[in-house]
Order: sequence, then C-alpha cells, then structure tokens
Amino acid sequence: MKIVLLGPTGQVGWELQRSLAVLGDVVLLGRQGTPHAADFSDPQAVARSVRALRPDVIVNAAAHTAVDKAEAEPELARLLNAATPGLLAREAAALDALLVHYSTDYVFDGSGSAARSEDAETAPLSVYGRTKLEGERAIAEAGCRHLIFRTSWVYAARGGNFAKTMLRLAQERERLTVIDDQWGAPTGADLIADVTAHAIRHVAHSPQDLGLYHLVASGETCWHAYAQFVIETARALRPELALRVSEIAPVPTSAFPTPARRPLNSRLDTTRVQDRFGLHLPDWRQGVVRMLQETL
Ligand SMILES: NC(=O)c1ccc[n+]([C@@H]2O[C@H](COP(=O)([O-])OP(=O)(O)OC[C@H]3O[C@@H](n4cnc5c(N)ncnc54)[C@H](OP(=O)(O)O)[C@@H]3O)[C@@H](O)[C@H]2O)c1
Repeated sequence: MKIVLLGPTGQVGWELQRSLAVLGDVVLLGRQGTPHAADFSDPQAVARSVRALRPDVIVNAAAHTAVDKAEAEPELARLLNAATPGLLAREAAALDALLVHYSTDYVFDGSGSAARSEDAETAPLSVYGRTKLEGERAIAEAGCRHLIFRTSWVYAARGGNFAKTMLRLAQERERLTVIDDQWGAPTGADLIADVTAHAIRHVAHSPQDLGLYHLVASGETCWHAYAQFVIETARALRPELALRVSEIAPVPTSAFPTPARRPLNSRLDTTRVQDRFGLHLPDWRQGVVRMLQETL
C-alpha cells in the first residue's frame, strides 16, 4: 500500500508517520524540507504532486490551525482548510484513492451542554470553524472514498501545547488564571494517529464504514481543571520541579478576549467511531499523564 502523508510536521502528522509505517510505504509531503513538496496555498501544485505519486491512500494532516490568526487572513485559511482539501478529494476520486482528513469541534457553536453527534447541526463561530466545515463539504461533494475525523483540544509530546504552557507559567508565577467555562476532551495526537491506522485497515474490507466520525478521548474537563490536573501530576511525577504556583483561579472566557470566538461546549459524542471500528477510547487523563511522563 502506498500512502501519501500531507502535513507530516504537525502534531497529528508527526504521530501519523509512526502509526502509518506498519501499513505500507509512507511518502511525506511537507510544505518544505521533504523530497516532494506541497504548499497548500497552491492547490494545483499539491494536486499535481499527489497525482504523480499515485497513492492508494492520501492522509491530510495539514491545515491552517492558528484560530485567531485566521480571523485576519480568511482567504488563506479558506485555501488551506477548504480549497486544497477539496481539490485533493477530486484527485482522490480520479485515482480511486482513499482520503483521510481531520476536522474540528469548532464547526459547532458550542451551545448547550450535551455531547454532539456527527449529525448535529453545524454553526461555526469563527473563520477557522467555517473554513474547516467548507473543507468537510468539499470532500463529501467530490465523491471520493473518505474518512473525516472531527477532533478537539489536540496535544502531543512534540511541540508546544496547553499543558506545557501551564507548566512553564507554574514555574514563573504564584497565581494563574484559567478559563473554566469551555468544556471538552484533551485528545492526544498519538491516539488520533493510531485510530487512523486502524480505520484505514478496517474500511479496506468494510467500505460501508467510510464517512464522518467524532474522535476524541473519553471523559470531559474544562481548561481550568485540565491545568490543575497537569500541575498536580507534574508535582507527583517530578517533586523536585520548582513549581511556584499556589493558586489557579477559575475565570470565564470573557476574561481573555480573543479575535476568534470559541465554542463553550466542545463535547463530541464518539459512539459511532467506537461501535463501527470496535474501539475503546481511553479517558483523556491517561494520554495526558503519558505525555507528561515523556516530556518532563
Ligand atoms: N490542534 C488542535 O487542537 C485541533 C483541534 C481540532 C482539530 N484539529 C485538526 O487536526 C488536524 C491536525 O492538526 P494539528 O494540531 O496536528 O496541526 P498543527 O500541529 O498546527 O500542524 C499543521 C500542519 O499543517 C502544515 N501546514 C500549515 N500551513 C501549510 C501550508 N501552507 N502548506 C502545507 N502544509 C501546511 C504544517 O506544516 P509546517 O510545519 O510547515 O508549518 C503542519 O504540518 C488539522 O486538520 C486540524 O484542523 C486540530
């Protein structure tokens, strides 16, 4: 099996390099620095590169993920999150290749407190959310075999993330203020990558299970409780760390105004992915502890 991986340097892309390796030959297509280049701001060039490689599977982990920056550059966000994925999907249809793509809970407005299923009404609040939704639709309309995984609050051992930022601030300050009214599930890039590899194998013999899925770790938390958990775990794992923080104060989202509006309720219902692929999604704490053990 030949797999083309786009966005191999990102959080999910990096873990996909590991997870996909057991399925076949993985050809990396980064923006730069890989033998074959693919800059998503030039959709036709990306499509040409993919066509020349004739893959069986295209996995797209590239995206415009800077949620606040996207408010100021909507055209670039649309190119990266919608136009290029749409063209990739048409290329996949022509090649009869499977396309795997990732989307986000930001396609929803985050009202209420229930976990949303794949069929729930979408209503993005931001340019990022809107362009990711346009990307989903462009892929569905292209008619290629596809899997789209909507995920949330992604972290990875490699690169920066919320947990690492909290630990740095906990070393620098005695008091932290953290949002306590946005709810969701921190989800490891390694979990997303492992489920992706499993799903690619599964749909090879069960094509009826292609389609759109919610993929997040089990359980739920808010950023404030997440920060507390990270700091308590770090203290238990590495008592010698000089964490100065003595107070983590909860504050509402309105205390941190940002250019992009974020959903308050990012809970996603993962029944479909667990049932159809025969998977168990671990509690979010399990992956966070592992990431801290790896990085501390
Ligand atoms: N991060 C989250 O919390 C989150 C939440 C929900 C859904 N998602 C979705 O999950 C997927 C993976 O996200 P992630 O967190 O792994 O993203 P990430 O760490 O921000 O990585 C983004 C990737 O996209 C690449 N990229 C950016 N601009 C590009 C361009 N012009 N041309 C080609 N490649 C470009 C980056 O390459 P460079 O290294 O060259 O910049 C990098 O490989 C995305 O579809 C994202 O929308 C993420």
